[in-house]
Amino acid sequence: MNTLFLELPASMRWSYLRNAGDHFFPQANLSRLLKHYFQTKNECEAAVQKAIGSPLIKQIMAKQSATNGSLSKWKLICLSAFIRLTKPEIIVETGVAHGSSSAVILEALHENGFGKLYSIDLPIFDSADGNLKPWLEGYSFRKGDVSTVNDLNQVGWLVPASLRDRWELILGDSLAELPKLVRRIPQIDIFFHDSLHTYECMMQEFGVVWPHLKQNAFILADDIFIKCHCAIRNFAQQKGERFTNYLQLGVIRKCKVDNIQ
Ligand SMILES: C[S@@+](CC[C@H](N)C(=O)[O-])C[C@H]1O[C@@H](n2cnc3c(N)ncnc32)[C@H](O)[C@@H]1O
Repeated sequence: MNTLFLELPASMRWSYLRNAGDHFFPQANLSRLLKHYFQTKNECEAAVQKAIGSPLIKQIMAKQSATNGSLSKWKLICLSAFIRLTKPEIIVETGVAHGSSSAVILEALHENGFGKLYSIDLPIFDSADGNLKPWLEGYSFRKGDVSTVNDLNQVGWLVPASLRDRWELILGDSLAELPKLVRRIPQIDIFFHDSLHTYECMMQEFGVVWPHLKQNAFILADDIFIKCHCAIRNFAQQKGERFTNYLQLGVIRKCKVDNIQ
């Protein structure tokens, strides 16, 4: 267990521990999570079965050794099932790297028959001197906090050419690019955060997208406990919502309508 776990407040520790069981019962706990949000049990089971059978997820798992930082198998299945169940028109994600999440989202959109994915990524390269070299100057990242690629062509390389027609990839800092993006696209059905998991970055990304989420839209955020902070809980509380957690994939549904000032 992460020793920083002890720095979490008690309520978050409970959420962390309760979901440790996800590793032992990933399918049963995923079904339970989905049934919390989607009423019909049969549809949830069908979505999970389709995701489990996805040839793309199997291919991605086979390439895991060459894709540092990719989502684990059950998180990919969870993401895929969410997209099959919500049937979103617009998805925005931050953090692409090798593109496992982008590929799985695009596969599910393709099978839904509609929908568009906008992804924002600030590529980070490994360099010969062992340091990380971000694509933009003025940024620095610590090893272990981010995934790296060899060159720009490698960003999103896991996304098959046949799935790219529903995809717009934007290179840059999410905190600079998200505000521009949300002004030019329709309202969002799913926002998926998987860029930098610091408290500040998560809170700022959530804050930018929130007014642009449809009612009942979802925020999904990976690695919510990895930095042992409470961004997901604090943001949900600020908005009068609750969060759930599956394998450190946090979920907030925007149930309440925004107050128009
Ligand atoms: C965990 S990886 C993403 C993994 C990807 N979602 C997948 O499933 O394969 C996180 C990536 O986010 C990108 N990133 C980090 N900070 C960022 C920022 N401020 N804005 C946009 N992208 C960022 C980096 O390329 C980093 O490797």
